[in-house]
Amino acid sequence: MPVLPPKGLCLEMTAETIAIASDHAGLPLKQALKSELERSGLGVLDLGTDAADSVDYPDFADKLAAVLKAGKAKRGVLVCGTGIGISMAANRHRHVRAALCHDATSARLARQHNDANVLALGARLIGEETAKECLRVFLNTAYEGGRHVRRVAKMS
Ligand code: RB5
Repeated sequence: MPVLPPKGLCLEMTAETIAIASDHAGLPLKQALKSELERSGLGVLDLGTDAADSVDYPDFADKLAAVLKAGKAKRGVLVCGTGIGISMAANRHRHVRAALCHDATSARLARQHNDANVLALGARLIGEETAKECLRVFLNTAYEGGRHVRRVAKMS
């Protein structure tokens, strides 16, 4: 595993564009994570929502799934109040492996074992610093392959 800087993401990630979306409950955390990505030199494809008005999280999960399918981004971040609804909606798409993470360990294992391509976070349940740590670990941890390949393939 690469040595991670305490703040910011690895420079080796600079060529990648990360898609990000949330509902109204996830908007403040989405904005914080978007700034973190931009500060690190990553491309960000922000799919909304952009206002505090109440919206439906499946619409934003579907938008992100479409962007991944079109190859406009390889990985994405989804945020709603708990992270539950938006990850459930995203995982209805066979090409999406969205992992709802609450700490660095779940983010690391979601990459190492499940080759997660979407990080889902619950803005009402997780602190901003923990969410940023999840993001850093998610983006900087490689899939282990090996014994996990057959299992991951069965999901898509
Ligand atoms: C919105 O109030 C809330 O239900 C939503 O953000 C999410 O937590 C659903 O899973």
